[in-house]
Amino acid sequence: MNALIVYAHPNPRSFNKALLDTAQQTLEEAGHEVRVKDLYAMDFAPVLSAADFEALERGEVPTDIAREQQDLLWSQALIFFYPVWWYGRPAILKGWVDRVLQHGFAFHAGPDGVEGLLGGRKALIVITAGGSKAEHEATDAVDLIHRPMSEGTLGFCGIAEVDVLTFWEVPSATDEQRAAMHADLRTRLATLLPA
Ligand SMILES: Cc1cc2nc3c(=O)[nH]c(=O)nc-3n(C[C@H](O)[C@H](O)[C@H](O)COP(=O)(O)O)c2cc1C
Repeated sequence: MNALIVYAHPNPRSFNKALLDTAQQTLEEAGHEVRVKDLYAMDFAPVLSAADFEALERGEVPTDIAREQQDLLWSQALIFFYPVWWYGRPAILKGWVDRVLQHGFAFHAGPDGVEGLLGGRKALIVITAGGSKAEHEATDAVDLIHRPMSEGTLGFCGIAEVDVLTFWEVPSATDEQRAAMHADLRTRLATLLPA
């Protein structure tokens, strides 16, 4: 199957990069076709600008947005990798969402409500965090971290099957714990996209 990976971390020595490498290797070994969107390496422009609005109002899709949309249409599965920053997504990923998932492409809002247009795809969201699961549960922050992406974005666009895998306390994790996280990722990928 065709898997599109959207990766948002600026540091090539990050744990996110190690997870990305594991995912790409696992999926390719299982015979899937993989395209990686490394948003920082692409220098993706994250600001939905006045020029974007003007072009879209004229019915023109800016070239960099159109390229992302073509890859989304190609995909049968979407996989995201990013760290939690301030309970949210890194700005570059939020900007990718703002600019690429346009009305008329990713969803349609009309008098009868909202219709997601990217249905038929599966998604896996892989998030790393510095804090512990217990801390986040104690402040009801787990939903705060997960739902903007799983429901507010992908669900809204019609992707019903969204799995979320969160790795907590990453900066203090031992090598053994990191190895277990890579193993968890491989298991979730095998469920998402069987060989
Ligand atoms: C700007 C910034 C904001 C952060 N905000 C949070 C946060 O809200 N909650 C949290 O648990 N960790 C937070 N962290 C910690 C990172 O999520 C953590 O260091 C990262 O997920 C570890 O993975 P990495 O090695 O791939 O960066 C933040 C880190 C940075 C740099």
